[in-house]
Amino acid sequence: MEWRVETEKLAAIYEKSKRVVWNPADLPWDGLNPDDFTREQRLGIMYWFAVLANFDASGPAVFARATIQAFEKHEEDPVRKCFFSITRDEMNHEECCQRTIAKLWPGGPLDWTPADDLEAAAHNNIGWLYHNGGRYWTGYTSAVGRYSLPVLFTSFMMGEMAASTLFRGMASGTGHPVFGEMFQRIGRDESRHLQICMTILETEWPGLTDATRTLITRQLRAGFVFLSMILWEPPRAEAFSCCKTE
Ligand SMILES: [Fe+2]
Ligand SMILES: [Fe+2]
Repeated sequence: MEWRVETEKLAAIYEKSKRVVWNPADLPWDGLNPDDFTREQRLGIMYWFAVLANFDASGPAVFARATIQAFEKHEEDPVRKCFFSITRDEMNHEECCQRTIAKLWPGGPLDWTPADDLEAAAHNNIGWLYHNGGRYWTGYTSAVGRYSLPVLFTSFMMGEMAASTLFRGMASGTGHPVFGEMFQRIGRDESRHLQICMTILETEWPGLTDATRTLITRQLRAGFVFLSMILWEPPRAEAFSCCKTE
């Protein structure tokens, strides 16, 4: 029961986040028609949204956990509120993936039977990515109590950095009205998330010890491997040995 403010900038970002709240259900969904695409195109779009969902659907759980941690550790009020706002936003992003997949590929991302080799490969990849995401979750929940905010935040920062770059690129690249509006809104949320992460890290980074630096280097590497699925860079086989590539 305290509302200590140390970082005014975070308080201002939280105020902004409340003013730009949006509802995924209000996107012009009638404009997304499965008949406008070939089966292969629908597969491609579903696959991409399944990959995005693997990251966006980890958002609400990851930041809800971080919100609880911030309360337990009596972090300043704007930190708790900013984590909460990211939880809210990521739930919206995940809903966009959910709605897109439901429209274009009923049963997707995993509850469907592939009809050819390409579909089987897509299904298999989505399954492994999901499985792999679960491993990161296990690592994350055990790290929450053990490591300090800057260590935890390095991997968040990677995710937010990737997300804001990606969604801004997709927003300017798409000609589809539903995706255009969706990517623009998500992109705006993600750059706010990145701002939150950078603001927290700016205050936390100067006090790092050498042991923490080593850990952060490892975190950056793990973050890059995890994000390689959306960054178009295939990871080296040994870096991704947890994944079935044989
Ligand atoms: Fe997101
Ligand atoms: Fe985000």
